Amino acid sequence: MSTDERRVASSGDGIVVLAIESSCDETAAAVVEDGRRVLANVVASQVALHAPSGGIVPEVAARAHLRWIVPVVERARDEAGAAWPRIAAVAVTEGPGLAGSLLVGINFAKALAVARGWPLVPVNHLEGHIHAAWLTDEPDDRTPEFPLVALVVSGGHTILVEMDGPLDYRLLGRTVDDAAGEAFDKVARLLGLAYPGGPAIMAAAGEATDRRMVLPRAWLRGSYDFSFSGLKTAVRRMVEQDAGTLARSLVAEVAWAFQESVVDVLVTKTIRAAEERGVRSVVLGGGVAANLVLRERLAAAAAERGLLLHVPAPEFCTDNAAMVGAAGHARFRAGLTGGLDLDARPSLALAG
Ligand code: KG4
Ligand code: ZN
Repeated sequence: MSTDERRVASSGDGIVVLAIESSCDETAAAVVEDGRRVLANVVASQVALHAPSGGIVPEVAARAHLRWIVPVVERARDEAGAAWPRIAAVAVTEGPGLAGSLLVGINFAKALAVARGWPLVPVNHLEGHIHAAWLTDEPDDRTPEFPLVALVVSGGHTILVEMDGPLDYRLLGRTVDDAAGEAFDKVARLLGLAYPGGPAIMAAAGEATDRRMVLPRAWLRGSYDFSFSGLKTAVRRMVEQDAGTLARSLVAEVAWAFQESVVDVLVTKTIRAAEERGVRSVVLGGGVAANLVLRERLAAAAAERGLLLHVPAPEFCTDNAAMVGAAGHARFRAGLTGGLDLDARPSLALAG
C-alpha cells in the first residue's frame, strides 16, 4: 500500500453530509464536506439540565432532545448556507446510547431522508469519536495513516482498537468496569466537585501544590484492558476516613493524583499497543480526550517513540455531530446506507 492509499481517500470528493447526534445529553447537528471540512456545527448541551442530579436522567434527556432537535438542525442549515442544497446524505447515530435519546435523532433523520430523498447513513457513536481525528485543516499528508491504533475515552466507553482501514475496527482492549469519563464523573462527585466531573477534576488538579500522592493503577497483567473502579474505591475510602469532607487543598491533591493515575494507564497502554502492533499513527478521541494533561502526556510519549498522534480539537472530542458527519462520509462512500426500518441500538458494539 502506498502512503496515500493508507489514508482515507476523502479529500476533494465534494460530498456534503448532514449529520445528527442525540445519543446522550447533547442535541447536535453538523454539515461536513469531504469528511473533513466542518461547514456547520451546532451543539445544544443539556449539562445545566442534568447538573442538579449529578448525572443524566434518561427521560429528561429524551424530552430535551425533542425540544431542541428542530432549532438545532435549522441553525446548522443557516450556518451551512450555500452548501445546504448540496447535501448528499443524512448520517445519524444509531447507537450505542440511551434508547429514548437515540430515537429522537433517528426519527428526525428518517423524516428528512423521506422528505428530501437523501440516503440515510447509520453511524456508530464510537466510530464518530475516532473519525473526529480527520476533522482538521491539516494537509492530507498530516491526517491519520492506516494501520493505526485508536483510544476512545468517553463517559460511557473506554476502548482501544486497531484499524487497518477507515471502517475496519478490531478491539484490542476495553474497560472491564467503569469508563474513564465515568470514573472522572464519579470521583468528582465523591470530592464534592461539579458535574460533569472531567473538566472539574482537571481544574482542581491544576490547583494542587503538593503533588506526591500516589493512587492505584490497574495494569491487568499486561492486557490492553482497563479498570478504574479500584481507583474510585481508593478515593472513596479517603473521603470516608475524612468524615465525608476533604479540605480544599486535599481535594486538589486527590484530584491531581486521580488524574495522574488515569492518564498514566491510558498513555502507557496506548503507546504499548502502537509499538506492539507496529503502527505509526495513534488516534485519541472521546470526551476525556479534551483533558489537557492526557493530550500533553500522550503527545510527549508518542513523540519520544516517533509515533504520529492525532487528537481532534477539544470541541470535536466531547459529543458533537461533526464527528458523525466524518464517519458518515466514510460509510456513505462505502455504500453502507440504511433503510427506513433503522432502529435505535443502545448496546451497539464497534468491533468484536
Ligand atoms: O464523549 P462524551 O462527550 O460523551 C459520551 O459519549 O459519553 O464524553 C463525556 C465524558 C464525561 O464523563 C466528562 O466528564 C468527560 O467526558 N470529560 C472530561 C473532560 N471533558 C469532558 N474528562 C476529563 N477531562 C476533561 N477535560
Ligand atoms: Zn461520546
